[in-house]
Amino acid sequence: MSEPRKRIRVRQIAQAKAEGRRITALTSYDCMTARIFDEAGIDLLLVGDSAANVVYGAETTLGVTVDELIPLARAVATAAPHCLVVADLPFGSYEQGPEQALETSIRFMKEAGVQAVKLEGGVRSQAMIRKVVDAGIPVVAHIGFTPQSEHGFGGHVIQGRGAAAKQLMDDALAVQEAGAFAVVLELVPASVAAEVTKSLNIPTIGIGAGVECDGQILVWQDAFGLNSGRLPKFVRKFAELHETLLGAAQDYREAVASGAFPNESESYPDSTPAA
Ligand code: KIV
Repeated sequence: MSEPRKRIRVRQIAQAKAEGRRITALTSYDCMTARIFDEAGIDLLLVGDSAANVVYGAETTLGVTVDELIPLARAVATAAPHCLVVADLPFGSYEQGPEQALETSIRFMKEAGVQAVKLEGGVRSQAMIRKVVDAGIPVVAHIGFTPQSEHGFGGHVIQGRGAAAKQLMDDALAVQEAGAFAVVLELVPASVAAEVTKSLNIPTIGIGAGVECDGQILVWQDAFGLNSGRLPKFVRKFAELHETLLGAAQDYREAVASGAFPNESESYPDSTPAA
C-alpha cells in the first residue's frame, strides 16, 4: 500500500535541489484550481500579486492590496492540502522596513493559513527577509525582473545581461544569506540563471530563466491558455482553455436562447415517480 501523500514542506523543497529533482510550481488564486493543481502533484502554489492582472484586471501588479490577496490566499491554502502554499507580499506592504515586512507576513500566516511568503528584491530586501525568517516564517525571494519595480526598470526588461550578471549574483547570495529557502529568478538569460543556480545552496525557481533552474513557475492562466492575449516568449501553452470556455459559453447561450436547455431530464416532475 502506498504512503498517504503529505504536505510538501520547506525541507522537501531543499531536498529536491540536493537530489536533482525539479520543483514544480504554479500560481493559483482560488479553491477550484488549487484543488486541481494539488491533485496533479504540483509542489508549490503561489498566490501571486499577479492576481492584480489575472483576477482584478489591472495593467500592473502595483495596485493590489493585502486585503485583496488574503481571501484568495485563504481559498488556495484551504483547498490544497499537499502543496506548499506561498503568498506574495504586495507592493507597499514590506518595503518600509523589517517591522512592516514581518507585520504583513504575520497577517498572511494567520488570516490566510499559508505556509510561506514571497517578497521581491535582493540586496535591498535582505533585512526584511532576515526579520521574517527569524520569526519562523519561511520566505521565497524574487530577483531579476521584479514586476513591482517595472516602472523603475522601464518595462519588462531582461535582467542580469553582461556586466549586470554580477548584481544578480550579489542579489542571489544576499537573499540566501538572509535565510530565504528558495529564490524566483525572473527574466534572466539562461546561462546567467544556470550560474546562479550552481552557486546557491537554495533552489532557484525560474520564470523566463531557462531550463537549468532547480524548478519552474508560470502564471496558470498563461500556461493553460485561459489568457488569450499576447504572451511572453518564455510561456508554453499546455492547454487552450480560452477556446474551450468560449465554445462552452456559446453552446450554453444557444441552448438557453433556443429552449433546448433545460430538457425534461434536467427538470423536476411535480411528484416523485412511483418506485
Ligand atoms: O505574482 C506572480 O505571479 C509571481 C510569479 C510570476 C513568480 O511573482
